[in-house]
Amino acid sequence: MSSDHWQKYWSSQQDPHHASNELEFYSRMGREVLFHTGPLAGKKVLEIGCGDGALFPHFDVNIEDYTGVDFSESLLAKFQQRFPAVRTVHSDAIGFMENNLDQFDVVISFGVLQYLDANQLKIFFDLQKGSIVDKGIAGHFGIPVKELSSVFYRGLGSSPLVLAGRKRGLGKTLISRLRNKIGHWHDFETLISLARPGTSRVDCVSSMSYFYRCHLLQQF
Ligand SMILES: C[S@@+](CC[C@H](N)C(=O)[O-])C[C@H]1O[C@@H](n2cnc3c(N)ncnc32)[C@H](O)[C@@H]1O
Repeated sequence: MSSDHWQKYWSSQQDPHHASNELEFYSRMGREVLFHTGPLAGKKVLEIGCGDGALFPHFDVNIEDYTGVDFSESLLAKFQQRFPAVRTVHSDAIGFMENNLDQFDVVISFGVLQYLDANQLKIFFDLQKGSIVDKGIAGHFGIPVKELSSVFYRGLGSSPLVLAGRKRGLGKTLISRLRNKIGHWHDFETLISLARPGTSRVDCVSSMSYFYRCHLLQQF
């Protein structure tokens, strides 16, 4: 699936398609991000694929230090409506990185890198280095992992759904297989080997909220 396909798909979506739209769920994911990045207050933060800003309030970042980039007009419009003072840029991730002259302490994405194929991921990681300060970090959260896809296709979408006894129905699971909305299922080795060049350390850890997703943590 090409980048144009995903841009078209996301251009009219009305929410970021998380397992839940409850505030507690977003707060929990925000806490998970901060667990790995450390506090973001006072840091210059770039969020790639920020969507409608569902996670933004949970990052506890100073609004003037935050930049959100997304190629979905509909989701960015919602973000701007809720937080008019926030800086958002309507662009695809690679195009933004190619033209960006700012330096950020932290680059974050959540549920985004799967919409880049392996070639695009390589380009993205190469360009990302130019946007991060020395000793800065990047956390790319919630990436579906190829080796764990059977967990997803068995209906075990996310831990909160299973805990609440609401396993994803077979119909919904089949539909998501037929109409791929997940993006690319990259394997662990591809993710790590593409993310490693130019870093001082790369970790790949499992998601606390989704059984089949991982987080890629890069230190520069
Ligand atoms: C699953 S949603 C997650 C949104 C947000 N990060 C969150 O967790 O609430 C994926 C988002 O990534 C954006 N996106 C996907 N591929 C992108 C790309 N190549 N460049 C910019 N945005 C992208 C989509 O438009 C969408 O808003």
